[in-house]
Amino acid sequence: MRVAGTAFNPVDVSIRKGLLQQVFPLEFPHVPNYDVAGVITEVGKGVSGWSVGDAVVAFLPIGQPGAAAEYAVAPAEALAAAPRTGQLADAAALPSTGLTAWQALFEHAGLKADQSILINGAGGAVGGYAVQLAAQAGATSTASARSRDRVQSYGADRIIDCTATSVPQAVAGQRFDVVLNLVSPTQPGGDRAATGPGRQRRSLRQHHPARPGGCRARDAAAAGLRAQRRRPAC
Ligand SMILES: NC(=O)c1ccc[n+]([C@@H]2O[C@H](COP(=O)([O-])OP(=O)(O)OC[C@H]3O[C@@H](n4cnc5c(N)ncnc54)[C@H](OP(=O)(O)O)[C@@H]3O)[C@@H](O)[C@H]2O)c1
Repeated sequence: MRVAGTAFNPVDVSIRKGLLQQVFPLEFPHVPNYDVAGVITEVGKGVSGWSVGDAVVAFLPIGQPGAAAEYAVAPAEALAAAPRTGQLADAAALPSTGLTAWQALFEHAGLKADQSILINGAGGAVGGYAVQLAAQAGATSTASARSRDRVQSYGADRIIDCTATSVPQAVAGQRFDVVLNLVSPTQPGGDRAATGPGRQRRSLRQHHPARPGGCRARDAAAAGLRAQRRRPAC
């Protein structure tokens, strides 16, 4: 595909630092960045369902040549049609973050309509998609975020302003079917919201065991590789 845009994920930073060699063995020189949006310029033999000119997004297999280039090669099964609204380049922000939210909510937590979910850290990249996906699934969401208006516009039913109240205080005594934590457990409000028996708590703040030889794209998305940056606590 001809690359319209690529996203720069904290994982790319870790790869550049050489920190993830055991998880994603790479040979250098390496073309970085695995999230991409672009237009198909050539279709491989035996590939069906995609044509030259299609606008697509993809989460490229980590470890193979990436998207910080004019052209990128993607396995056909990694492609999805790009959103029809907005700039194609901006759609590069979708694949790994959107898949992470999808996998956490539906593949791991099994979120269903009429269930309740607490999303801690809803103002971020993964959280923003999680709020929208939960709303689309018909679940009732409580979202902690500093960016109230934006998260409300995504469909959150209740917003906790974590700059004014700690999340555990705000949800004290409440039970949720699913809790998705996107904030470090060491930060105030990070990982202490309550769940009860039979309920799901999913934290993406944990490292998963190394998967030598690579792994499925969506597993990689949920691997919870920690962002290296520091944000002021709520
Ligand atoms: N991005 C990916 O592709 C990806 C993939 C797999 C796993 N993960 C993991 O998922 C987690 C979230 O990633 P992300 O990319 O969404 O990060 P992010 O964009 O930095 O979002 C984190 C959000 O948490 C909120 N926050 C920060 N401190 C808080 C606090 N004390 N209480 C409540 N909210 C707080 C902030 O929201 P406000 O803006 O509202 O303040 C911030 O935007 C990380 O652990 C990351 O390692 C990410």
